[in-house]
Amino acid sequence: MSFAHKIKKQTQPNTLIAVLNHLLASTIDFKLSAKQAHWNVTGENFIALHELFDEVSSKVDGYADMLAERSVQLGGTAQGTLQTVSSQSSLGDYPVDIHDGREHVMALSGEISVLADASRQGINAASDVGDMVTADLLTEITRGLDKLHWFIRSHLV
Ligand SMILES: [Fe+2]
Repeated sequence: MSFAHKIKKQTQPNTLIAVLNHLLASTIDFKLSAKQAHWNVTGENFIALHELFDEVSSKVDGYADMLAERSVQLGGTAQGTLQTVSSQSSLGDYPVDIHDGREHVMALSGEISVLADASRQGINAASDVGDMVTADLLTEITRGLDKLHWFIRSHLV
């Protein structure tokens, strides 16, 4: 094996582990935003939104688990502490003073679209280094995020 090939083999997983951990932080952040919305939402669609936001939080929690365990499978350390999430998440601060269903729908819609875009970039990063299994995992997650985004934003029409 050439030296360059050796280096490539060593750096491929490390690059992807960083990508996965970055996505993990944003995913945990978003899961907490959905719970914040679940607890505080009010208005005429209360029950529908209260239940939808809980389902979103639970589905996204599953995605966080998939990301964390994949990074460990690649030889890394999953980074999911509160401090890491706070410093590494790509999402902005979720508003803590909103209650109206429409405001929560708009806030969650904005966050999940950032998360889905980051996940799509992760698919490209995994494909670029030839790790089609990680690309497949991220494709599954992105497909799920797109579906949840559709469920959320459909309340705006
Ligand atoms: Fe609850």
